[in-house]
Amino acid sequence: MNDVVIRGARPYGEGEPVDLVIADGVIVRIDPAGSAAPERETGNADSTETTVIDAGGQVLLPGFVDLHTHLREPGREDTETIATGSAAAALGGFTAVFAMANTDPVADNAVVVEHVWRLGQAAGLVDVHPVGAVTVGLAGKRLAELGTMATSVAGVRVFSDDGHCVADPLIMRRALEYSTALDVVVAQHAEEPRLTVGAQAHEGERAARLGYPGWPASAEESIVARDCLLALHAEARLHICHVSTTGTADVLGWAKARGTRVSAEVTPHHLLLTDERLATYDPVNKVNPPLRTGSDAERLRAALAEGIIDCVATDHAPHAVQDKDCEWAAAKPGMLGLQTALSIVTETMVRPGLLDWRGVARVMSERPAEIAGLPDQGRPIAVGEPANLTLVDPDTEWTVHGAELASIAENTPYEGMRLPGVVSATLLRGRITSREGKIVNMLDGTS
Ligand code: DOR
Ligand code: ZN
Repeated sequence: MNDVVIRGARPYGEGEPVDLVIADGVIVRIDPAGSAAPERETGNADSTETTVIDAGGQVLLPGFVDLHTHLREPGREDTETIATGSAAAALGGFTAVFAMANTDPVADNAVVVEHVWRLGQAAGLVDVHPVGAVTVGLAGKRLAELGTMATSVAGVRVFSDDGHCVADPLIMRRALEYSTALDVVVAQHAEEPRLTVGAQAHEGERAARLGYPGWPASAEESIVARDCLLALHAEARLHICHVSTTGTADVLGWAKARGTRVSAEVTPHHLLLTDERLATYDPVNKVNPPLRTGSDAERLRAALAEGIIDCVATDHAPHAVQDKDCEWAAAKPGMLGLQTALSIVTETMVRPGLLDWRGVARVMSERPAEIAGLPDQGRPIAVGEPANLTLVDPDTEWTVHGAELASIAENTPYEGMRLPGVVSATLLRGRITSREGKIVNMLDGTS
């Protein structure tokens, strides 16, 4: 077993630096920095090889948990695989990701979710939790076998037809009722399909001026309101994917105040980017739900700070060049997100003072782990806790280049941007998975 010592880190960016000793995947000591020579105390020097990370006062956070990522395997391995997506996740500071079900074949049965689970285990860089589809083939007509996916080795805890809305209210009601019995959560992609036929961009002044068919905010808000009421009556847990509008934040505030068991996520791109990007006509900016107005983005940042929106989720959506480098209407929606998430949260939330690092730990690790029911993620940085950790250099800036990211696809909307916040190391159960921008795969040495 390789032990790790992290010297001079500041948990949650608070207080004086400490040294952490990690053994057998667990934090075994936390001492004031420099007060001990901890590596000599980790056990038998003959059998234990200690890796020392000099943190130099950097911020130590619990490993990030992403409730919403598209890893594209099986089916579109030309754009991402579970191995390359896991690498992007580890480099982005994640220790657990949820792989959406809109693969080919769809993850709507135990065989596919087990396959995804095993590929994640084999890659070994991040815990890959398959999301199960709510309906067979994402078609919205018949419920998938939620129970067999939940009891499979993959232990599915999150179900979603993401990419599609579960639009039929009766199907959604039944899914919520089953989810309560199974103690799982249904994550809704809120988009009333009758209101988005042909839609290409946020319905408003900019889309109208530039000639894009509009995508109304009410397409999202009407489904969120409906589903909050369905969840309230079913006493079920509902999660809302990629909240994008002020009206949705209003509805969530109302529903939470009434005791609805609803949680919600916002993507980094909806926190930072707006429909001003439409003027580029560059489909790298096409995403579902669409980029909204500046005042929507401002409200989303405030709602995340207040807890009306619970967490950040990337909606990492790799696409092939031919599906993005084409005319807007033909392009697929979605953008890469795993390796830029921390930087966008630093830029939009930490720098303006909306969240401190403890707040970042809440929205990127603790709340998503709670929502998905992961017992060993999002835990406090404390002795006896599993060492799922992310070391962040908050001040250093870096320049994003899609071609240099670990994903196969390169569709980042942040190309050429300088962003603050660098992930300098990620540890999964005490094993270093990424360090200084490089993947460290030590599975062979420890298994
Ligand atoms: O932009 C998006 N891309 N939104 C979704 O809901 C699906 C995703 C994808 O699978 O590409
Ligand atoms: Zn979606």
